[in-house]
Amino acid sequence: MSIVSRKVLTLDEFTIQQLRDFPHATGELSGLLRDMGLAAKRVNVEVNKAGLVDILGDAGAVNVQGEDVKKLDVFANNQFTGVLQHGISCAGIASEELDDFVAFDDAVSKNSKYVCLYDPLDGSGNIDVNVSIGTIFSVYRRVTPQGTPVTKEDFLQPGRMQVAAGYMVYGSSTMLVYATRRGVNGFTLDPSIGEFCLSHPDIKCPEWGKIYSVNHGNFFQYSKGVQQYIDACQRRTKDNGGPYTQRYIGSMVADVHRNLIKGGIFMYPGTTDKPKGKLRLLYESNPFAFILEVAGGRATNGKERILDIVPTELHQRTPLFIGSKGMMDELDACMAQY
Ligand code: AHG
Ligand code: MN
Ligand code: MN
Ligand code: MN
Repeated sequence: MSIVSRKVLTLDEFTIQQLRDFPHATGELSGLLRDMGLAAKRVNVEVNKAGLVDILGDAGAVNVQGEDVKKLDVFANNQFTGVLQHGISCAGIASEELDDFVAFDDAVSKNSKYVCLYDPLDGSGNIDVNVSIGTIFSVYRRVTPQGTPVTKEDFLQPGRMQVAAGYMVYGSSTMLVYATRRGVNGFTLDPSIGEFCLSHPDIKCPEWGKIYSVNHGNFFQYSKGVQQYIDACQRRTKDNGGPYTQRYIGSMVADVHRNLIKGGIFMYPGTTDKPKGKLRLLYESNPFAFILEVAGGRATNGKERILDIVPTELHQRTPLFIGSKGMMDELDACMAQY
């Protein structure tokens, strides 16, 4: 019988080790990450059974975003909300799938210092066809006093105030990646022991990549600057760092995860129909902007840094350009001409 290799750190072991450098830390953030990991394992089991159990298809409702809600959207939302509500590290949540934020009113939760915002199931459109989907989350320190119920103010903080952000990919393997200001680390679910194990320590986004990710179907609805940049991507040759490759899964988690690891740029620009694009600032753009910046990349709405936007609505949308620093700088130069 082989012995357990202590070189493999589980998510819990890793977050507890991180606490050692902070003698005054309470361990609440570790607890919150453990809760998110636990709910992710439950969602993962359900995603793996999709097709066998009655989990495919629409739930028969339309969410506050105006989208058809899938059964798995509801299941995932209930798992993450439930685990945080019954945990001891989170005072309230906001979710893509809920009209309003939820203030946890039990005595333990009210005394917690964090709020969590999430897109419980990202890439809903891909559920029914067995393509990678994910979860995206964001953690802030509340601005209202501990011991009182959280208010909207706690959720409408600019993204630069995030304490941590992360995502899960339910793909060919299941991963949890999270960032704090200290770095970005990735954990792969080992199904044989049911634990997320450190597999991608200290992730850095390469300064350049060869991948650009955008929905080409909307090309003629993009601004001239965006069209110009896409055109430039297509014209890259081996003499100027190309040729580039276009990759677009349609689950932002999977698209941005790939570009974070390999280097690349992901864009969901505004269109003539939807000038603010599709992605939600609080549940999608902010967490990824935080993760990419910690990893050395950049994220903007085409004009300003995503993390500096002061939110006014829980469900507000924003155009998003995110990825390798060199490619983002080039995009800026291209857009500045128009
Ligand atoms: P969600 O499933 O959480 O509503 O998000 C879907 C988003 C995102 O994951 C993806 O990048 C984008 O929708 C794809 O949209 P298009 O099909 O318009 O390209
Ligand atoms: Mn949705
Ligand atoms: Mn999403
Ligand atoms: Mn979603």
